[in-house]
Amino acid sequence: MPSAPDRVHLPRALSAPAPGWTTSADVIVVGSGIAGLTCALRLREQVDRVLLVTKTVLDEGSTAWAQGGIAAALHPEDSPAEHLEDTLVAGVGLCDREAVEALVTEGPPRVHELVALGAEFDLDAEGEIKLTREGGHHRDRIAHAGGDATGREISRALIAALHRVIDDPGIEVVEHALVVDLLQNDAAAGSPVSGVTLHVIGEGQLDGVGAAYARAVVLATGGLGQIYTSTTNPPVATGDGMAAALRAGARITDLEFIQFHPTVLFLGEGSTGQQPLISEAVRGEGAFLVDADGRRIMEGRHPLEDLAPRDVVARAILETMREQATDHVFLDARHLGGDFLATRFPSIVASCRSLGFDPARDLIPVAPAQHYASGGVETDLRGRSSLPGLYACGECSCTGVHGANRLASNSLLEGLVFASRIAADIPARIAAGELPEVGIPSSPTRAGDTSPGALLDHSQRLTVQRAMTLGSGPVRSATSGAATATALADLASLPPSTAEPGPKSWETTNLLHLGLVLTELARRREETRGGHVRSDFPDRDDARWLVRQSVTVAPDRSLTVTERTMP
Ligand code: SIN
Repeated sequence: MPSAPDRVHLPRALSAPAPGWTTSADVIVVGSGIAGLTCALRLREQVDRVLLVTKTVLDEGSTAWAQGGIAAALHPEDSPAEHLEDTLVAGVGLCDREAVEALVTEGPPRVHELVALGAEFDLDAEGEIKLTREGGHHRDRIAHAGGDATGREISRALIAALHRVIDDPGIEVVEHALVVDLLQNDAAAGSPVSGVTLHVIGEGQLDGVGAAYARAVVLATGGLGQIYTSTTNPPVATGDGMAAALRAGARITDLEFIQFHPTVLFLGEGSTGQQPLISEAVRGEGAFLVDADGRRIMEGRHPLEDLAPRDVVARAILETMREQATDHVFLDARHLGGDFLATRFPSIVASCRSLGFDPARDLIPVAPAQHYASGGVETDLRGRSSLPGLYACGECSCTGVHGANRLASNSLLEGLVFASRIAADIPARIAAGELPEVGIPSSPTRAGDTSPGALLDHSQRLTVQRAMTLGSGPVRSATSGAATATALADLASLPPSTAEPGPKSWETTNLLHLGLVLTELARRREETRGGHVRSDFPDRDDARWLVRQSVTVAPDRSLTVTERTMP
């Protein structure tokens, strides 16, 4: 195992201009996906003032891109116990069972509440929510909307609910607001969180960097997919909330567990950034993977074949690609028929057609790409992080429900269930006097220091992405991990004058900080588990590695890694 992370040191804050404005609320919710919107809407009924901030516009995060659906035991013959079992199997021994129990038992009522709020799921002939199947599920339990536009419909319904209350003085929404760092009561790492510094591209009072204070901050900032060269995540997924929490001293857990989606449209060698997803639901409806000679890839590899858990399918594709020295395989959906495909998967068909081929006639070229961060800001069952006053939900959090690998369509559900739990916890704590009101200090101070040179210029983003893909991607080894660690450490020690403070350099620096930590944890885990393969340790090693790894930044800015053995 690599030695202690002696080369990894992180600043406590990003270099940024001093806050030029201040504001305050009872609770600040950062992010406007399913988790952030659910939390803000529920909180506004119970606390006096909620401030909802989002990096660009309300519907631009990962939620709106979710195709497949939301998993919940909604069918009378299904049960939370069966959903629990499938989730635990996908998580390969590292799920927190209690968190999964909360997810699967509270999931169905939360989905019904979403329907009551206005979300329109696809219905069957009897008017019941139509359910499909995805990898790792032994039952049809994926509710979907608009065929393959589930996230967009959920996002639409939640934003419509927000617009119905937008004039309410109890809720304020600020778009184009990038969280730079967390505000803490004092400079010590791990001290209580009292707000955030934000960079707002606005007009009038809220413009430029400012400080927003609150009794509690809820991070719902989504994933970090832009850390890799290719991802299904939108451009906003640069891990800003996770990185800010990390720098402030919050415990970050399971960060090495990145999920690579098996079927992402292959756009040709060298394509970078967000790539079009071909939902697992296409395989759920009967499509299958083949190599260039038309041989079925999943046959004989797993009892569920093309609907095996995502890591199994991604691994089989990677193996095939290596054996056949190619950079993609194919999804065959032709037998499903043009009419069915156009009705069931309108967005996917449109996206394929825009690129010049038709899934009803042509094979779809696919390859695995980054899709989801299973780890993040560690929380308990109430959504509380290790820092007083800081909560997290959705992809930026690590509730423990995903373990080493998230089960398909559990992410929207996790956002919904745990955001609701946070919206129950905060008001109860306010009533109990546990989250005192935070006054606006006469001169706002930020946590930690802002040592010059802490920023990485945007021009280095591709260097970070390439290094991460090489050594902390789907196939890892001691050698490639060491090369990645060195490349990232070199970037971290570039001379100070290279980057000006601003959204692009803050985002790029957030990717670097998370990349350093992710790579450290990936190098330590000398086994193959969850979403990645360690080519030098091809097997799963339960004797040594039935552990979850967490990282915190110590007061001297070094990383402390702790391990927890699973029961
Ligand atoms: C998909 O539609 O394949 C993605 C669903 C998910 O990530 O859970």
